[in-house]
Amino acid sequence: MHHFSYRDGSLFAEDVDLRQIAAEVGTPVYVYSSATIERHYRLFAAAVKANAPAGTAHVFYALKANGNLGVLKTLAALGAGVDTVSEGEIRKALAAGFPPEKIVFSGVGKSESELRFAVEAGIYQVNIETEGELDLLSRIAASLGKRQEAVFRVNPDVGAGGHAKITTGSSENKFGVSFEEVGRLYARAANMPGVRIMGLALHIGSQIRETDSFETAYAKMATLVRSLRGEGHRVERLDLGGGLGIPYEIPKDFDYGPDLIEAYAAMVGRVTKGLDVELGFEPGRLIVGNAGILLTRVLYLNPRPTKQFLVVDAAMNDLMRPAMYEAYHEIWPVSEPAADASRIAYDVVGPICESGDTFTTGRVLPEQKPDDLIAFMTAGAYGASMASTYNQRLLVPEVLVKGGQFAVTRPRQSYEELLGTDRAPPWLA
Ligand code: LLP
Repeated sequence: MHHFSYRDGSLFAEDVDLRQIAAEVGTPVYVYSSATIERHYRLFAAAVKANAPAGTAHVFYALKANGNLGVLKTLAALGAGVDTVSEGEIRKALAAGFPPEKIVFSGVGKSESELRFAVEAGIYQVNIETEGELDLLSRIAASLGKRQEAVFRVNPDVGAGGHAKITTGSSENKFGVSFEEVGRLYARAANMPGVRIMGLALHIGSQIRETDSFETAYAKMATLVRSLRGEGHRVERLDLGGGLGIPYEIPKDFDYGPDLIEAYAAMVGRVTKGLDVELGFEPGRLIVGNAGILLTRVLYLNPRPTKQFLVVDAAMNDLMRPAMYEAYHEIWPVSEPAADASRIAYDVVGPICESGDTFTTGRVLPEQKPDDLIAFMTAGAYGASMASTYNQRLLVPEVLVKGGQFAVTRPRQSYEELLGTDRAPPWLA
């Protein structure tokens, strides 16, 4: 479910008319609903907590999905933790008010300065992905007189996800240490001064809309936990990653409800029963995906003998998912179409100078004309966070709605900002 709906002929975000946001902030613009973010966080947190012994399930929102300050503060206020993958993300999390003891640091290629920053900040957990990282982390922490709590991210060789580019858990993917290596690394780490290994982590992929692949991977992890304990190692934490998918096709009156979340949480409860570990979860898309839209304006129609192009002011640099993963996003006109409105198949394209800048082909929509507003739905996750300035286009603003209020939580980038960091080489200055 989400909080974008038609009222009096116009599409609203909660109690705010999107036409008002377009008029005041301009287009393209990302719009997020606080109520939807809160609903999804609460649903997920309640479900996983209900299926684990009291106080042992912890949710670390995956910041990469959406790092907007308003979104982060909304989640921090709900008591969420946060999963980060760079120093920039840790800094954003701290700036948004997440306490260091609720920050996890994941990622295959953490640099020395990033690890140092994380250790100095006093974060909860580093998810180590290679032996080299283990050595480096211990050296850094020891030099600071600290012992950093960490887990090994294991590659379970169970891949899943909505697209090959977002599958991470297969042994062909770059992520994590292999099952066979974990015991040896655990034994080595026991003698290292700067790390305390607390357990294991995994993350098998993203946009996964069933529970079987999670179950296969988690069952393997439960077996690994028991065998490591048999070897005398301490395994107190199991970070189960993110990856639970969301519906991208949403009929207007359809409440998809919490079924998949409930099924996932129940499965986790079953597979980890009696394991006596603290569980971690890293949902990203599930929390923010349906909570955001990209609002854009029709610029031109370009009729061809075989098709009709609809040129809008948003482009692939603003919402990269269709170009990168052939991802589907629903398109809702902001003016509610009449039931008998004529419908046309459009190729919806942006202004960028390559054919890949296509959001969809042959999409049947109510007839559009220049200046009409349309919304790309389900753009709250991996939308703004993956945007770039390709074609020297300005990063689009982001707006957070709460009830009848809205606030620009990131203004549109200015041309001064776009040009301001460039430096001419001295021989051309
Ligand atoms: N934890 C780790 C270690 C991850 O790598 C990811 C996502 C997550 C958690 C959160 O996964 P989620 O719950 O959001 O599925 N840009 C792609 C998705 C890439 C996901 C990368 N890792 C897209 O737009 O579909």
